[in-house]
Amino acid sequence: EKEITILAIESSCDETAAAVVREGREILSNVISSQIELHKLYGGVVPEIASRKHIEKINQVIEEALKEAGVTLDEIDAIGVTYGPGLVGALLVGVAEAKAIAYAKGLPLVGVHHIEGHISANYIENKDLEPPFVCLVVSGGHTHLVRVKDYGTYEIIGRTRDDAAGEAFDKVARAIGLGYPGGPKIDKLSKEGNPEAIVFPKAHMSDSPYDFSFSGVKSAVLNYINGCQMKGESYSQADIAASFQKAVTDVLVENAMKAVDEFGLKKFAIAGGVASNSALRAAMQEACDKKGVKFYHPSPIYCTDNAAMIGVAAYYEYLAGTRHGWDLNAVPNLKL
Ligand code: KG4
Ligand code: ZN
Repeated sequence: EKEITILAIESSCDETAAAVVREGREILSNVISSQIELHKLYGGVVPEIASRKHIEKINQVIEEALKEAGVTLDEIDAIGVTYGPGLVGALLVGVAEAKAIAYAKGLPLVGVHHIEGHISANYIENKDLEPPFVCLVVSGGHTHLVRVKDYGTYEIIGRTRDDAAGEAFDKVARAIGLGYPGGPKIDKLSKEGNPEAIVFPKAHMSDSPYDFSFSGVKSAVLNYINGCQMKGESYSQADIAASFQKAVTDVLVENAMKAVDEFGLKKFAIAGGVASNSALRAAMQEACDKKGVKFYHPSPIYCTDNAAMIGVAAYYEYLAGTRHGWDLNAVPNLKL
């Protein structure tokens, strides 16, 4: 049988990305044009600037992805694209581009859910990984505990009630003066701090063992800093970073391991930007080792937004028969 080669496009937030993926798990190219430097000036992603930058970059990024993969559009079998969730103006650029190429080349169009993409990033380097497994998706916009029942079949068993985990990292980083994006900076600074120095609250929801809340720990960090400033005391940025990071990772590990136990699955994966956090990885590895559960995680480049993961998800959707029509639209609050 013929091998399936997919051109995938991702533009849901602040990365313009394109990738060529063969037979689901072989990444022929993975090109990412990041807008971080642009949005840094504003301390976060500015939606309209993101859309405008996507439209400027997208053709160039696709051209590069094809060139790097050593293929032309004539060798592509389907176009995969993120159509939600995300920033509507940003999504529209990728969706319109994907539709134009699919229409011009007479190719099938496969819309992909961004979170399904993040989860699928685990298939790239873990050739043995197959559903069922539990996956914790932690990014700037999402904190979901997902039961992956099969390719394309998901059950969300837990979610954040307020801030996403990455959002909490970004807000705390801003409060202690580290700049945007905060996650990687807190990760790095924490290595010089004491995670036991300050006890920040860990929220557990009484009505759901799998839901999360990160606004309390974020407020506690802000209160701690204010308190120090009012008393004229100095504080250690590194201790705050390490203690905050511990409060967040402890809850993520506890809830995730509860889910692993409840569903009796021996495989657990993490995904999303925060999944590249070194303390979270170490803590998850240790917890999984204790239980005899195999722990999967993508390399950092496949944790943050990229199109390779969208190509992987598109492949399994393609095999399952998913085809979108010319009326495919961006869906900012798309459900998994
Ligand atoms: O998956 P992603 O690129 O975008 C979304 O879909 O949201 O995730 C970006 C988020 C940001 O909040 C960033 O601060 C966080 O992931 N992040 C990290 C680390 N690297 C990225 N958070 C903690 N530790 C890291 N090493
Ligand atoms: Zn993402």
